[in-house]
Amino acid sequence: MTSQDVTPVQLAVIDSVAPHMRHNPYDSYTVLRGAGSFVPGPHDTHLVTRHAEAQAILLDPRWSHAEEPEILHGDSDVELPGSFLWMEPPDHARLRGLVGKAFTARTIGGLRERARQLVDELLTRMLAAGEVDLLEALAYPVPLTLICELLGVPAAAHEQVRVMSASIARGLDPDLLLAPEELAARTAAVHEFTEFFGDLVEQRRRAPRPDLITALVQAEEAGVRLTQTELIGTLLILVVAGHETTVNLIGNGVLALIRHEDEFRRLRADPDLAGPAVDEVLRYDAPVHLTTRTAHAVIEVGERTFAPGESVIVLMASANRDPAAFPEPTRFDIGRYLPGRRTERHLSFGLGLHYCLGAPLARLEMSTVLHAIGVRVTKLSLLEEPPYRPNVVVRGMSELRVRLEGK
Ligand code: HEM
Repeated sequence: MTSQDVTPVQLAVIDSVAPHMRHNPYDSYTVLRGAGSFVPGPHDTHLVTRHAEAQAILLDPRWSHAEEPEILHGDSDVELPGSFLWMEPPDHARLRGLVGKAFTARTIGGLRERARQLVDELLTRMLAAGEVDLLEALAYPVPLTLICELLGVPAAAHEQVRVMSASIARGLDPDLLLAPEELAARTAAVHEFTEFFGDLVEQRRRAPRPDLITALVQAEEAGVRLTQTELIGTLLILVVAGHETTVNLIGNGVLALIRHEDEFRRLRADPDLAGPAVDEVLRYDAPVHLTTRTAHAVIEVGERTFAPGESVIVLMASANRDPAAFPEPTRFDIGRYLPGRRTERHLSFGLGLHYCLGAPLARLEMSTVLHAIGVRVTKLSLLEEPPYRPNVVVRGMSELRVRLEGK
């Protein structure tokens, strides 16, 4: 096929995952939504482009997530440790239930003061510096420190955890988009992660402490505990999902405020808008752009019938900008999710069985950051256009250099 033979829709499919389009995949999504609810994608999949169908699929348990490793990493000879993110009932329910026991609203609520203190410290340093890479100075340390402290990872090892999980997060992208050295880095990181957390688990078995690793080691349901493999898989998803995503939420949110001065002014005038603003950032510029599902029955969605075994790639970040669901979808409006305003839910935490277990933690971290910015930062501007990482699934910037002033 020559380049002239590529239709605009085929080009949009390619661009929606192309590394050079990471700064703005949204124009491609617009073309894809215009072409229909389902657009043929790579590997015999269909891209799900619109909100109604994406929501219907995520809410329907006949669509399984267990085949994702095959769909995205089929050719790979390295196994990502199994996590309940990629399991179905009854294993999914058993493991999610066990983790849920350790990862309660109370545990998360107890972090509120620590989050506030940490964000304040970091912001004080940033304001003193005046010019910073906001990802390094704020977006990484907040979720990384909190998830590591919650788990009980010693402070000296936080940086090691960050480096391992960056390689693993990169490796969540389809294998065909990864360079050989990235695949090798993923393999090495998975081995290192298994060994590192295997040691911590052993230490906690011998000497329990008041932390989440100990709670997971001790969590049991009807006398059954997590196996070692299940423990490592669970820790992997908590660590990787627990900060790689939130880093981008913080980065994307600050960038959106810089690009929308009126909304920044609004937040400064009323820092309590931080709560609804978290959801608007999630909708407007989602950290996780897609997930996959495979039909486990004959399933009708909208005007299409899927046969068992057919797979789809659900483009949540496209659904979040669907004009049929959201009036003025390209407008960043931090009051969109104010109580009392009727607004469709965004799909950025997923929905249904696999709805993000860490959503309360992510919300707590992001609202703390936005509130502190609203109260303390008076001026915020970009020093240069931010570069993006090549990641497609967990999409975000590699640097966000800003100038800031405040108190
Ligand atoms: C802004 C931050 C976050 C975003 C955008 C996000 C997004 C998501 C999405 C989209 C899913 C569902 C995937 C699917 O259905 O295929 C998910 C699941 C999950 N997330 Fe998050 N996440 C975030 C933060 C966190 C945090 C902080 C944690 C934990 C510390 C976490 C832990 C999990 C877990 C364990 C699952 C699997 C749930 C299951 O399969 O039952 N996430 N997340």
